[in-house]
Amino acid sequence: MTRTAATPAATARHGGTPFGVLPTGDTVHRFTLANGDVTMRVLDYGGIVQSLETPDRQGIRQDVVLGFDDLEGYLHRSPYFGALIGRYGNRIATGRFTLDGTTHTLAANNGPHALHGGLTGFDKVRWQVLDATDRSLVLRHVSRDGDEGYPGTLTATVTYTLTADNRWVIDYEATTDRATPVNLTQHTYWNLRGHGAEPVLQHELQLVADAFTPVDATLIPTGVLQPVAGTPFDFRTPQPIGARIDAAHEQLRHGSGYDHNFVLAGPGDAAGVRFAAQVREPATGRTLAMSTTEPGVQFYVGNFLDGRITGKGGAVYARHSGFCLEAQHFPDSPNQPAFPSTILRPGERRTSRTEYAFGVDTQQP
Ligand code: GLA
Repeated sequence: MTRTAATPAATARHGGTPFGVLPTGDTVHRFTLANGDVTMRVLDYGGIVQSLETPDRQGIRQDVVLGFDDLEGYLHRSPYFGALIGRYGNRIATGRFTLDGTTHTLAANNGPHALHGGLTGFDKVRWQVLDATDRSLVLRHVSRDGDEGYPGTLTATVTYTLTADNRWVIDYEATTDRATPVNLTQHTYWNLRGHGAEPVLQHELQLVADAFTPVDATLIPTGVLQPVAGTPFDFRTPQPIGARIDAAHEQLRHGSGYDHNFVLAGPGDAAGVRFAAQVREPATGRTLAMSTTEPGVQFYVGNFLDGRITGKGGAVYARHSGFCLEAQHFPDSPNQPAFPSTILRPGERRTSRTEYAFGVDTQQP
């Protein structure tokens, strides 16, 4: 009797609703979180933010993240829409690195390079739900020793919290039993006019970065920190995303637009969280501010979207129809001794925090 009583109570507490069934037979659940003016729906598969609604300056609520209505889209067509990324966000050159004298070979899934954790990254696994309330969700994933070529069993715990003052706070924690690189991030694509609206080129972006990490033609950092001053990468004062995106700059050619890691400047608060970026969409007045403990942010403008993906409600996602601000350590850090280290060792606990704050600017366009 005690047993039958315990099961329904646990299910009710988690409150997820079935969203689809994986090829393994496991059911994916969707959780609704709401607080203040923000409502978001999150899948235990990939920790994917499947929808996120906020009001515009008229109070009209819209879903501002790109995604799919069904699991099938996420399984077969998704360029990481809304997903948690691990074990290593962005690229590791030729899927290889040497750590403590041993060379490790990773699954290559981006030409010769390893991207976003490999063929089955943390975006493509069902996470265990440790706790769920109407405003928070705690997810855990244990990645086994050798998973996608990475050494050590890594335990990652990610907490999403919606606060009463309209912030989505992401807390990451990781531990390992062998030294391994770790770079966890979140890959939501935003369009503050509403997902499926016109490309985000009119959105105004401010990025608190004095430098970025230029890349070669395959998007691997050269190792240099290049000042943004005098380049189309200078967003220290707010600029429309599209204003210089077609400028004749070698780095914009390499990235097919912006697809670069920016080096964050500026002081952090007591917890080491620093203001990194602010975006304003002039037509709706919606604003998005990002703060993070991470040293970098990948600014990517959906350059690889090309209208072949049909998402929620039949929306066609054309080139530049969403932007990503992925808080992270720098790409290819395991091969770049001058970059901040991503190596996590046994006995250490890696924690980081990234926040996205939602608002409206009442000033008319
Ligand atoms: C990151 C990368 C891009 C691309 C996207 C996903 O932003 O830097 O090059 O791989 O993820 O499509």
